[in-house]
Amino acid sequence: MKDFQHLIRVVIIFAVALVGFLFVRSLLVPKSFGKLGHYRADSVDEIAALPLHYAGPDACKKCHAQQTADKAKSSHRGISCESCHGALLGHAENPKSDNKPRRPKEAEMRAFCGHCHERTISKPAKYPQVDLKEHNPDAPCNMCHQPHQPK
Ligand code: HEC
Ligand code: HEC
Ligand code: HEC
Ligand code: HEC
Repeated sequence: MKDFQHLIRVVIIFAVALVGFLFVRSLLVPKSFGKLGHYRADSVDEIAALPLHYAGPDACKKCHAQQTADKAKSSHRGISCESCHGALLGHAENPKSDNKPRRPKEAEMRAFCGHCHERTISKPAKYPQVDLKEHNPDAPCNMCHQPHQPK
């Protein structure tokens, strides 16, 4: 028995540490944690309650049938209207609202299109890209390419 003395002390220290850990953990871990797996379940409702900003790709077509039809036939079909025109839930609900569509001005056009089409070595070779300094440098892109049907 004499030889076990030191082991008992170690066991007591571990037991106290474990109880302390479980106590601190119960204070820190949020209540809904674990309900949906390794995740705080309440955050789903919190995120769902945030205000909406995007109307989604189907919201534009009832008022902008031409642009929607043009884009659907073009290589820009995969790009959402709101990727180019900004988040527009307010506009789609009421076109007179303060939520104005972003519409690049002529002077901004090369930078606007260049954001996706400027040639870089990281883009796949198949992806349509141009050297902005050499590709018709004096004209805005939309003089030759229709944004909704760029070909
Ligand atoms: C309820 C009808 C309606 C819906 C839905 C709607 N719009 Fe519009 N949109 C309008 C009207 C009306 C104008 C013209 C407003 C003006 O000239 O001030 C307009 C103008 C625009 C313009 C041109 C702005 C400018 O400065 O010339 C763009 C771009 C636009 N809308 C994009 C969109 C997009 C993208 C969506 C979908 C998210 C959308 N709209 C949904 C009615 C709508
Ligand atoms: C690749 C970016 C891009 C996408 C995607 C895009 N647009 Fe545009 N859109 C533009 C640009 C740039 C202009 C301005 C053209 C100009 O001023 O000549 C424009 C102009 C407009 C206008 C003003 C009238 C016109 O035809 O010039 C409307 C309305 C519009 N877009 C609606 C839409 C809708 C609806 C969608 C989705 C179906 C959409 N756009 C998708 C870039 C885009
Ligand atoms: C959000 C990114 C984005 C923006 C902004 C954008 N494009 Fe594109 N563009 C694309 C993608 C993606 C494709 C299709 C690539 C594919 O087919 O693999 C494309 C295709 C094209 C093509 C090839 C057309 C064809 O059918 O071969 C041209 C030309 C083009 N875009 C011009 C423009 C012009 C001009 C603007 C500005 C008004 C513009 N793009 C803005 C992403 C963009
Ligand atoms: C003066 C007219 C003109 C202007 C301005 C212009 N382009 Fe072009 N673009 C063309 C022509 C014509 C072609 C096809 C022949 C070629 O490849 O040069 C083309 C080809 C492209 C292609 C390649 C499509 C493919 O299939 O690989 C892209 C991407 C493109 N342009 C984007 C743009 C962008 C972005 C701008 C603005 C920064 C712009 N263009 C300005 C006339 C123009």
